[in-house]
Amino acid sequence: MAEPELTVAGAIQPDRADPGALRLFFALWPDDATRDALDDAGQRLHQHWRGRRMRANTLHLTLAFLGDTPVTQLQALISRVEAIQARAFTLVLDQPGYWHHNRVGWVGPTRSPDQLGELVSMLNGAIVEAGVKFDPRPHRPHVTLVRNAVGGALPPCGGVRWEVQDFVLVASCLVAEGPCYGLLGRWPLI
Ligand code: 2AM
Repeated sequence: MAEPELTVAGAIQPDRADPGALRLFFALWPDDATRDALDDAGQRLHQHWRGRRMRANTLHLTLAFLGDTPVTQLQALISRVEAIQARAFTLVLDQPGYWHHNRVGWVGPTRSPDQLGELVSMLNGAIVEAGVKFDPRPHRPHVTLVRNAVGGALPPCGGVRWEVQDFVLVASCLVAEGPCYGLLGRWPLI
């Protein structure tokens, strides 16, 4: 299945409270095969936990959440991120989970590779150096698959193997159907 096109224009809302800001986050964005496997895992979680499945073309793993960021800071941020040299890695998403506080069902890695932690800390460093604010809570790697889920016993979820070759910067906005995302940049891992 081809990935539906994501556009920056779609992520910029003219009616935002602050038209000079974008709601940003860095993420791992799946290739077609990984996205299909994640979508299948979402279908299995949904059978047990109900709720609202995430649309396949929005599935991702957040690395750092910046929130509303002045567009005037974007160039400084991108310059620092371009200098990042982080290693490619394999991620095995084999652990389903459910958070009661926000009713989110997700899948994450039982074992988080060192390279993922290194990438997150390099990004955090780049964000701080660029003078951009971000959510400083410890990183908990997960892909959200269902929202407003009822939860309960952990269903079997299989394992999704993801060869991670790059990371992206995303701008998000909310529309009636849920979040919409525009990819602002993509950088390779080495
Ligand atoms: P979630 O899927 O667990 O909600 C875009 O909102 C992405 O950033 C989502 O993957 C979301 O995780 C993540 N995120 C991390 N911190 C966030 C925050 N403080 N507010 C909103 N989204 C956050």
